[in-house]
Amino acid sequence: MLKMVVCVSGGGTNLQAILDAMQDGRIRDTRLLAVISNNAGAYALQRAQAAGVPGICISPKNYESRDEFNEAFCDRMKELQPDLIVLAGFLVSIPPRMVEEFEGRIINIHPSLIPSFCGVGYYGLKVHEGALARGVKLTGATVHFVDNGMDTGPILSQKAVQVEPEDTPEILQKRVMEEAEWVILPQVIADIAEGKIPLGKK
Ligand code: GRF
Repeated sequence: MLKMVVCVSGGGTNLQAILDAMQDGRIRDTRLLAVISNNAGAYALQRAQAAGVPGICISPKNYESRDEFNEAFCDRMKELQPDLIVLAGFLVSIPPRMVEEFEGRIINIHPSLIPSFCGVGYYGLKVHEGALARGVKLTGATVHFVDNGMDTGPILSQKAVQVEPEDTPEILQKRVMEEAEWVILPQVIADIAEGKIPLGKK
């Protein structure tokens, strides 16, 4: 049984894709221990509640310093003892201690074909604004292991999406989510649960 924690910050559509895949059997032998958000108002937490999954809010705003937040975040994650940590629209940088303690067991979904349109400043709509400004004809999404860089860990899966001439950032974001993110993230989790993708040692 793969024990998983999903970290979110916003709408939680990727979390919902994971929940739906667990519900319909595309993801098997997996238990979602908790959903952690840095944002108490994240709709993702309501999605977790509706699915009967414990929601936890750990926000840097509630700590004197980033170091104190990092320690609390790492301690809470260690208590949960997940096999896999999934960053699904999570906008807080992962503490180096967590990357070390969970090396090879943290994955992230990024809404572009890494190495394009990733790294500092490329998140949410900004990713799609960059793709449209560059004039690429294809974009997509990437699932990768998380290392101490930003969007730099080993790539696990990618799916390309056509860019249409009349696309706005919002239209493109929606297509990338529907046709790429919500497909490859559940698929990678299913592959991990079935042992097709090996995880780092606990
Ligand atoms: C998604 O595009 C995801 O790739 C990015 O954040 C956006 C919001 O995701 N990291 P969600 O709806 O909160 O899952």
